[in-house]
Formats: sequence, structure tokens, C-alpha cells
Amino acid sequence: MSRTPIPPKGSPAQDVLERLEGFRAADLDWRSGKVWAYMYDPGEESEALIKRAYMAYLSENGLDPTAFPSLVRLENEVIAMAAAHVGGDEQTVGNFTSGGTESIILACKAARDWARSKRPELARSAQRPKIVLPSTAHAAFHKAAHYLDLEVVLVDVDPDTFKADVAAMEAAIDEHAIMIVGSAVSYAHCVIDPIPELAALAKAKGLWMHVDGCMGGFLLPYFRRLGRELPDFDLRVEGVCSMSMDLHKYAFAAKGASVILYKHKSLRRHQIFTCANWTGYSITNATVQSSKSGGPVAAAWAILQHVGDDGYLEISRQVLEATEKVTKFVDEHPDLFQLGSTDMNHVSFSSKRVPIFRLADAVNERGWYVQVQLGYRWQGGESPANIHLVINPANLRWLDALLEDIRACIEEVRDSEPSPLTKTLEQTLAQVDLTNIDDETLRQMMAMVGITPGSGSVPKVGAEINEVLDMLEPAARERVFTEFMNELFV
Ligand SMILES: Cc1ncc(COP(=O)(O)O)c(C=O)c1O
Repeated sequence: MSRTPIPPKGSPAQDVLERLEGFRAADLDWRSGKVWAYMYDPGEESEALIKRAYMAYLSENGLDPTAFPSLVRLENEVIAMAAAHVGGDEQTVGNFTSGGTESIILACKAARDWARSKRPELARSAQRPKIVLPSTAHAAFHKAAHYLDLEVVLVDVDPDTFKADVAAMEAAIDEHAIMIVGSAVSYAHCVIDPIPELAALAKAKGLWMHVDGCMGGFLLPYFRRLGRELPDFDLRVEGVCSMSMDLHKYAFAAKGASVILYKHKSLRRHQIFTCANWTGYSITNATVQSSKSGGPVAAAWAILQHVGDDGYLEISRQVLEATEKVTKFVDEHPDLFQLGSTDMNHVSFSSKRVPIFRLADAVNERGWYVQVQLGYRWQGGESPANIHLVINPANLRWLDALLEDIRACIEEVRDSEPSPLTKTLEQTLAQVDLTNIDDETLRQMMAMVGITPGSGSVPKVGAEINEVLDMLEPAARERVFTEFMNELFV
């Protein structure tokens, strides 16, 4: 493989910046307001503010809190605001992290080490400690288990509401269980799990209860203040030990901003890593990273100060109204149905008559970007393949136009046939077990859909590929995605 070395001679700053700008040509044009996924767009004025705040603290290093007291202050103030927002009290503590995944990894580590400290037999056992998750819990918990050598016990959810089934969760607990998880809200269906019931179960069994509020923690309190009836989900609930909440979602902070909150310091202690057993400086880190830029925490602090509670409430009012409009559209359309009933501002919908991935492609060809989610099946139900709309303030001016285009695209694709490539791949897949085929054959199959080894080029993942992926079991999808990742980057 050819390797491009560092340029022998440097280039003027302006040239370098222009080239960087040019690289974006194929990226999603999120500033258009037509992207209904991935972005949590605060609008131009707020974006300018977070950039300035980020740049002001870009070079400060969070490695050693005694060297930059400003970063300790910013983090403590952000945590205090976050804790107050989700029912924390004077005992609540927390840390600023790089994102929801890091917050979740830390909560799982704290739960593991807390459980080991209370139940020494866990540390001696050859069986890995277990975390009990509804199948709707974010993949970050699986990642945490992968990194921390925990076992995931996956529990089916209610097939109509897509909320955790408390009785099934209880049945899944055995003597190796350490932790129960509930989401507020779940990513895929945007619903709140029965947190008080799950927390009561955790308490009765002596387990750690974590609420994943990465997506919903910030916005839900506003929705409630606007009159939306929602079940209890935050730190006020008896039995909740920790809660994660992202600020780089609906607080509109710069990416790299989440918090992990604990009911009490005695729980957070298990999160902290310290090492004095080497020849260099002693390390004590509350979070995963050691050296880290002060930019994200400064930007998060700045946006909270700037938008303020009244600003967030107003944004939430607009987003809530728009979500109700989307829900009404889906409910009234004869070909569509909503998966579950959204508790916040994401709406997932599917269809029995319209090929959903082709519908997404047709919509995207009209200049939008909507995300699809693959189907997930279990013995007592399924979450069918669907389109998942994330409704942001920056999207609102386009809402009617999007809904009209969805309506028109349904007519376009309703009776369309699968492409020849989908059919070929379907036949090939019927003959192979993807979890067991050799790397070379898998690479050849990926080349058929435009993924060429080591090319660094990004294929367009459209209906053809999604229809094939949708046929696969999760383990086979994981194999394909792992190989894809390994090919994508040189
Ligand atoms: C419910 C939930 N938890 C966790 C995460 C992970 O967050 P991040 O992508 O910031 O790591 C997400 C991301 O969308 C989420 O929706």
C-alpha cells in the first residue's frame, strides 16, 4: 500500500486551510437545515459562540487539574447546572466527559468496581459480572462490556411500546448480575423505559441502576414543563445510582460534551483511576482521557450561559410542536406507522406496503438526509426497518416541505422491485454463513457493493446494501461492519 509521507517542505497556512475546506465537498450539507440526523444544530449565532469559546480553551490541558484551575471551575459549574437540571441534590457529583459513550463506559466501570467492593466473591469468580440491558439500550453499553470484560444479558422489550419489560428484566437477574439499565429516551424509538420500576427492582436486588439520559436527559425536563405527561426518569427516582446526559446533543454544545452524574461521591470513587506505580508523574484521572483539550468544556459552559433556561424552553416548545406535526402526519398516512409512541422529538416510522430503504433513498435524492435503522427481530416481536427523523430547531423551516416530499416519494416507490444487485446478493447470502466465511470471500462480496480494500473511499450506502444488511442476523452484520471498518481506513 502506498504511504504518503509528511511533505518534505511546509506550505503556507492559507493553502493548507483552503485544502482542508475543499475536503468537505462530499460531506452532508448540514447547514442547509435539510439533514434530519446526526446534527444538533444551534443555529449560526450559537455556533459562532461555541467556536470562540472552544478556541479560547483549545490548548489548555485537562491532564493536571492543579495546573489549570479554570478547567476545574468550568467543569464543576457545568456539572452543577446539569445535576440541578435532572433532579440532583447537594450529594450529587459528576464529571464532564467526551460523549455519551465515555459517560456510559465510566458508569459501567464504577458499577463493576462498586459491586466487586461489596461482593468479593464476584472478583474471585471465573464468571464475568453481568449487566442486564433492554435490547433497546444503546450499543455503547455493549462497547463498555467489551472493554471492561462484562457480560451483556439482553432482555426483549415490549413489542408494542418498545419499553423495557420489568418482569423479563427481573427474570434475567442472577447472582452474577451487577447492573440494570434503563433509557430516557432510547435512541431507536425515543421512548422512556419504566425507570421507577427498574430502579425499585435494582434496589431490591442490591444492583446498580443507571439511567441513560444521553439523548433525553436535557430535553425531557423542558418537554415536561411544556405540559407533556412523562413518567419519572431522573436522579430523583429512588434507587437510581447514576445518569448520563449529553450536552453535545440538545444543549447544543460542541461535540465532545457529556456528563456522568452519580447520586453520591461514594459511588463516583469507583470511576476514578490512579497510578503512581511507574517512573513518571503520578496520574489520577476521573475520566478515560488523560491529556485533553479544555475546548469542549469551555464551549459547553458558554452555550449553557448564552441560551439560558428561557432560551432552551423556547427551543423545546418549537421542537415539540414540530414533533406533534410529524407524528400526526405518520398516524394519518395510510401506508405508514410509528414504532412505539415518541416521548420526545425523534420519530421512527415504517410501512408494510412501501419498501422503506427505497423510500429513504428517494427522499434523500430530493436533497434531504434522513437516517434509516435496520430491522431487529426477536421471538415475541420485531422492530422493523424504519426511517428515523431527528427534529432540530434548524430543520423547522423545512418541515412542511419534507413531509410533502415523503408523501410524494411514497407514491414513487410503493410498487418498485428490488434491484438486480440486491437479488444477486440475496442469493449469494442464502448459501453462506457470514459469521464463518473467510476474510477474502467477505472482501470480494464487499467489493461487489463498492467497498474496495484500503481505498479509503466511502461507498454510498443506499437501499441495495441496506436491504441486504436487513436480511442478516446481528452477528453477521457485526462481521460485515467490522470488516468494512477495517477496509475503510488505510
Ligand atoms: C440513548 C443514547 N445513549 C448513548 C448514546 C451515545 O452517545 P455518543 O454518540 O455521544 O457517544 C447515544 C447517541 O446517540 C444515545 O442516543
